[in-house]
Amino acid sequence: MIGAGSVVREIYQHLYFRSDYSALIEVAAVADPDDRCRNWFGDLAGLPAHRRFASHSEMLAQVELDVAQVNTPDHLHCGPAVDALNAGLDVVVPKPTAATVRDAHEMIRTAMRAGRFLGVDFHKREDPRIKEARARYRSGRYGTLQAAVFYMLDKLCVADPNHEPRFFATADFAERNTPVSFLTVHMADALMHIVNLVPVRVRATGYAQKLPSLRPIPVHGFDLVDTEVVFANGAVAHILTGWAVPNSAHALTVQSGRLLCSDGLIDLGLDTPGLREIHADGIFEVNPLFRNFESGGRVTGYGISGPGRLYQQILAMRNGTLSEAERAVAFSPMTLGFYTTLVLEGAEQSLTRGRKLEGGVTLGPEVDLCELAVSQIGPGAAKEYGLS
Ligand SMILES: NC(=O)c1ccc[n+]([C@@H]2O[C@H](COP(=O)([O-])OP(=O)(O)OC[C@H]3O[C@@H](n4cnc5c(N)ncnc54)[C@H](O)[C@@H]3O)[C@@H](O)[C@H]2O)c1
Repeated sequence: MIGAGSVVREIYQHLYFRSDYSALIEVAAVADPDDRCRNWFGDLAGLPAHRRFASHSEMLAQVELDVAQVNTPDHLHCGPAVDALNAGLDVVVPKPTAATVRDAHEMIRTAMRAGRFLGVDFHKREDPRIKEARARYRSGRYGTLQAAVFYMLDKLCVADPNHEPRFFATADFAERNTPVSFLTVHMADALMHIVNLVPVRVRATGYAQKLPSLRPIPVHGFDLVDTEVVFANGAVAHILTGWAVPNSAHALTVQSGRLLCSDGLIDLGLDTPGLREIHADGIFEVNPLFRNFESGGRVTGYGISGPGRLYQQILAMRNGTLSEAERAVAFSPMTLGFYTTLVLEGAEQSLTRGRKLEGGVTLGPEVDLCELAVSQIGPGAAKEYGLS
């Protein structure tokens, strides 16, 4: 384990210790420079002091391991992942692959060279509604994608460091990260997973109106971002993401998606998964599809089976039972999240270069993703990803 922050608390601790996949996984060591996170996880996993490291390099040098799961912040995925791959380990990272195209390319190239597995946990790919939408779209029954609108909006407590308990390990997470890196990537990936289209242009508009008003700790970051993505076939998507929906919302994440196609449309009711509760605190939509705490302590759901299936694939590859077809899909740039990182970096660049209006709105310019890829990884590599 490299990095033991909030994604481990929310998802991976259940995968390792209480899931159908737990028998595949023996947690052998943890590396995290933060004492509190390292020891919280070390205690949970029953690791002795000599299996707890402040540095991943020391861990890789001292412990015999098969897999590294790299749960560091997005911009720090690449270094530990590349080190682990070069040390002969397979690697799993939570979404997104990396914060930049250069890092994502480096990780993919290293995995290919080392002949090791690189798995990116985009758990929405395992959501049964996304899987069904993908199969139906790919059958041709809706024709060609023309336009899509997706939104994914977290309650304010996710981004608010004044809220107890605090969601992220660091108080400034929502300042150092945007809703694009934390949320847009989920929806961009889900959409591309369904339609298999390559993005070519991105433009983003950001709204910073609620987060800066938080007290006593204000957050100088975006509440909401609209990312417009244009695909190679001319289809357009608007992906709206944020983390400033009032805490009284009916779900931790208010989210949905529509795909409008030449011969039909798909309507994904992502935050109405079929269990509505009414109790003293209000009315809530519960999403047992994502994470389901069963009696007896087992945890199931696509939040668990997403990464769990990556571990199954690792084992199959090691046992020589991963078929050529499965291998081709697992190692494709779409599966490895390359295009999602491309959208992410393009949207972040658009926001950085944007014109700031009075009142907290940033109007970003259009970013050409082919030019971005060529400038970051060179024309030869960009061409291999179909970008030239
Ligand atoms: N929080 C979620 O629910 C969630 C869900 C899906 C994916 N993710 C992804 O998971 C990753 C981690 O996010 P998070 O929310 O857990 O962040 P976080 O800030 O809560 O935790 C990050 C952890 O990494 C540690 N770390 C930093 N540098 C390190 C290094 N060099 N070596 C080892 N550990 C290091 C930090 O000390 C911290 O404990 C990100 O890529 C994020 O996008 C998070």
